[in-house]
Amino acid sequence: MRTAPAKLETFRDDFTYTNSKEAIERFPFPFPEDEYAYSVNIEPHTLPGPAGSVNEFLFDIDEHYLSEMAERDLVLKENPKRCLAMPHMEPACWDFIDRAMTTMSADYPDYFKLEKNGDQWHWQNLLLKLDDTFTFGDSSTLPCPPMEYMGRQVQGDIALLDQRDGDLFLDAGIVTCPADWSLAFDAGMSFKEWHGPVPMAHEMGVFDRALKYLTAIPVDRPVRRLNWTLTVNARMDTSPETYPMWGAENRSVTPENVGEKVYLRVELQVLDRMARSNALMFSIRTYLISMDDLVTNKDWARRMHRVMKNLPEPLIDYKGLTHYHQILVDWLAKYDPVN
Ligand code: HEM
Repeated sequence: MRTAPAKLETFRDDFTYTNSKEAIERFPFPFPEDEYAYSVNIEPHTLPGPAGSVNEFLFDIDEHYLSEMAERDLVLKENPKRCLAMPHMEPACWDFIDRAMTTMSADYPDYFKLEKNGDQWHWQNLLLKLDDTFTFGDSSTLPCPPMEYMGRQVQGDIALLDQRDGDLFLDAGIVTCPADWSLAFDAGMSFKEWHGPVPMAHEMGVFDRALKYLTAIPVDRPVRRLNWTLTVNARMDTSPETYPMWGAENRSVTPENVGEKVYLRVELQVLDRMARSNALMFSIRTYLISMDDLVTNKDWARRMHRVMKNLPEPLIDYKGLTHYHQILVDWLAKYDPVN
């Protein structure tokens, strides 16, 4: 079932973020097997997906919409460089506006409305109480640059990738809830350059095969994959820029608080070819679930234990789990009958 946008929650300080029962039920649990290894886990994102699921629409709007948009505003106020677009990405930014407004107004008619009269567009976001008329393609008619304007209205981070010379380049984006990477640092990098720090996957040929797949994606044939990590506290913004605010929290996990402090952080990543610019839109929709909520599903609890127990050392290190990985494995063991 789809959950309607709810009251404001926080992803910092007092961390009031919680998931409803329905949000837990639709959580995209990412492990199909008891062992996890990197792979080219890309599949067609056929739309509409199952009703109410996170895969139903191109942009998933759920009960955390208002809270995530408020959190994005805080991050952008602290550091406007969390949103950028190189000048040659202007057409791609307008493609993003077109794709987002067209699909969101069709998929959520109670929340978003779009009227087009030639290049005069009228957009209403009833959730954020926005009512704007602008000339499509003319940035001077928007209240802020197009990447930021639309990025402030969709849940999850967005990267727009320019495609040239058979490669992808990270030339625009809005990234306020990353799993420990920086848009400002990666800007302008190629596919293998920005994936440089990832262990094991390069040697396995994962990125060679993924890049071939991605550069061949046609218009209207989006694909998706899930990525995951763990986060201490329900903190959306785990970026290198704010590391001093959250790095030490990794040492705060104890056998007593692991259930409430450790969150599984899942990214639903969708890749969608932009029609005019030929850029790829890469959306990273982040879902957080506490271990206490996760173990309410017995199958997930058992599998989580096995995946964590079998996780290769280089991944424990890369994902930043070193300080609390063993505490978590020990805590999860009680949910695994084979243990
Ligand atoms: C084209 C759009 C994509 C973008 C913009 C992107 C971006 C990133 C970034 C910034 C990181 C973090 C690297 C770091 O530690 O600094 C990352 C990690 C990773 N990416 Fe991608 N990626 C993309 C597509 C893919 C695809 C299609 C795959 C499929 C195999 C993939 C596999 C991975 C893996 C396995 C990691 C490590 C994640 C972890 O263990 O937590 N990426 N990606």
